[in-house]
Amino acid sequence: MAKKVLGMLGSPRRDGNSAQLLDAALEGARSAGADTERLDLAAMDLNPCLECRACDAAAKCSQHGDDMGGIYSKIRQVDAIVLSSPIFFMGVTAQTKAMIDRCQCFWVEKYVMGRRVYDGRDRPKGLFVSCAGSSKPTIFEPALHVAKAFFAAIDYQYAGEVLLGHTDDPGLGPRKKVALEQAFEAGKRLV
Ligand SMILES: Cc1cc2nc3c(=O)[nH]c(=O)nc-3n(C[C@H](O)[C@H](O)[C@H](O)COP(=O)(O)O)c2cc1C
Repeated sequence: MAKKVLGMLGSPRRDGNSAQLLDAALEGARSAGADTERLDLAAMDLNPCLECRACDAAAKCSQHGDDMGGIYSKIRQVDAIVLSSPIFFMGVTAQTKAMIDRCQCFWVEKYVMGRRVYDGRDRPKGLFVSCAGSSKPTIFEPALHVAKAFFAAIDYQYAGEVLLGHTDDPGLGPRKKVALEQAFEAGKRLV
């Protein structure tokens, strides 16, 4: 059966740099035989976590009726996720973070209840792709911590990252081409 790879775009720009990196990774996954799907988080109805603490007891979110229910199901079903977010104020975008915070119920399931969601099957993989306007060498560090914590909480194996810095550079073209190729290869390796 074909592997399933889910792309999550956290940028509000549907065809910006992060979208193109994500699409390249998904194309790589398809080239290796996977079925892929892209979710645009900015176009979805996603409420932030309310810290109601209901998931402490049940490992389930108390909020129903937004699009997070579908995302919970997909996280449990797919073989890999490619999470893509540009850097906004040193971190992932609000749309990305809202989705991640709503995964606190997975964190409770794994770290408090000690349940391993993927027992009996291959552990799914998580790839992070990101871009940032500045050329600061440390620009991706906070977001990398967030992405790794997200994949650990949903019990995915971290499969690395593809990062494109200094997108403000008028001469971005050649570096972007390299990053798109890296994303394609990283997507292929997920499968
Ligand atoms: C609200 C906002 C905050 C940003 N903050 C940062 C930042 O802290 N550091 C940085 O290097 N770039 C920052 N940028 C620039 C984006 O990371 C950059 O333009 C990126 O290419 C946008 O991704 P996209 O092409 O997928 O839209 C910011 C952009 C916006 C709109």
